[in-house]
Amino acid sequence: MTYLLALDQGTSSSRSIVFDAQGQVVALAQQELPQIYPQPGWVEHDPMEIWRTQLATAREALARAGLQARDIRAVGITNQRETTVVWNRATGVPIHHAIVWQDRRAEPTCAQLRERGLGATIQAKTGLLIDAYFSGTKLKWLLDHVPQAREQAGRGELAFGTIDSWLLWHLTGGAVHATDVSNASRTMLFNVHSNQWDEELLQMLDIPPALMPRVRPSSAAYGETLPGLLGHAIPIGGVAGDQQSALFGQACFKEGMAKNTYGTGCFMLMHTGATFQTSHNGLLTTSAAQVGPTLATVRAAPPPEEAQSAPQYALEGSVFVGGAVVQWLRDGLHAIRASSEVQSLAESVPDSGGVMMVPAFTGLGAPYWQPEARGTITGLTRGTTLAHIARAALESIAYQSAALLQAMSRDAVAAGAAPVNELRVDGGACINNLLMQFQADLLGIPVVRPAVTETTALGAAYLAGLSAGVYRSTEELSGLWRAERRFLPTLAPQRAQELMARWEHAVRQTTLG
Ligand code: G3P
Repeated sequence: MTYLLALDQGTSSSRSIVFDAQGQVVALAQQELPQIYPQPGWVEHDPMEIWRTQLATAREALARAGLQARDIRAVGITNQRETTVVWNRATGVPIHHAIVWQDRRAEPTCAQLRERGLGATIQAKTGLLIDAYFSGTKLKWLLDHVPQAREQAGRGELAFGTIDSWLLWHLTGGAVHATDVSNASRTMLFNVHSNQWDEELLQMLDIPPALMPRVRPSSAAYGETLPGLLGHAIPIGGVAGDQQSALFGQACFKEGMAKNTYGTGCFMLMHTGATFQTSHNGLLTTSAAQVGPTLATVRAAPPPEEAQSAPQYALEGSVFVGGAVVQWLRDGLHAIRASSEVQSLAESVPDSGGVMMVPAFTGLGAPYWQPEARGTITGLTRGTTLAHIARAALESIAYQSAALLQAMSRDAVAAGAAPVNELRVDGGACINNLLMQFQADLLGIPVVRPAVTETTALGAAYLAGLSAGVYRSTEELSGLWRAERRFLPTLAPQRAQELMARWEHAVRQTTLG
């Protein structure tokens, strides 16, 4: 039997999953990751905890699978993106906690970049809108605020990385300082056309190039794990940011194929093939996972230092409060005791009774971009019950996702492509049938839930399997993808349009007063 090990380092937990060659989960281990909130708007992780929990879950997953490291053909890494770590190359010790993607401390630097009128240049080179979300301005903050950091960086003593690089460094005992194109594309320092760090952007943020990791294709021979860590050296064959990895795990390899991950927030990505599309609807352009040479090719003829893969792109949008609205029903309103109760409460009424909830607790992201917006509930009557509110809360996840998908389709059509004709779904909340059916009803296209919903980890396993020669092509992977259930639209298009119009009306209320 052939097995692959995926390391999935997320914002709230570190997970490791052993897959068989058919992409079926053999064993899984997970450990929570403590969140550090030094002050409002700041979010940090302890990088040593990230490494400790990730390694512990890898060992546990192997043990649960009853396998040895030598049974694993290759390891794939996928990770929370943008989160920024700087460490000392000689000691491997971080100079500061990791600054997490949600952290807003770099906003003043972003405001300066906007004032200098650099938005268009940055978007053209990186596909991103200027925002503290991305790694570049977090890295600048570390260099500006940690004593001696800038001097040490100038002398080449420090290394920067997103979480994939941090894990790679430790897995290889400091032998490999690298990242993949999909993670690099979230730094605001990477030129997604040339697949290289952009000198002008590095200068703009005063970042010494000596800090930067080597950028590789997402599927490539990255190195080997130190034999002592898991009992035997294992080739590391794949690296991708978690959302691009999920797109890959959903076998969305071609233009127009889209996935939505329903987690605490929702992340929707649509593949645009080799075309860099600039969104006119507030979406980001990002590098999709890219497949490089296989291990066999590398052994036969080592590729040149910067062997590149052909750029592949996706449009991306995110919903800030997705499944988190259910947590709010539980912890804020005490309407339910466990998140799993939401479906039965929502199903106890035939519809939301005209109630519309916009959970803009932290502002609204794409396609609205209203950071000052706050949540609202409209359409309350004397007959409104908690069940109607629960249903409206659940439906808000679908409305926000529908607005994103419609924005993507508008961008696709403007670029002369077809609108999205099917949405593949994954993430914790995709098990909720009511939500998935409503999503299909609003979108008017099939919403398809795969048999394996661990698609983030699966994407990393597939990338590793491709470079290790377990799979020959993405076509072969497409053949492994199976639908578990297809939710077909049942609502008349006219009615879906009316509902979306009422949603947009409710959205407008969030910015009033
Ligand atoms: O861009 C942030 C994203 O990669 C985080 O994903 O699943 O760790 O919340 P997750």
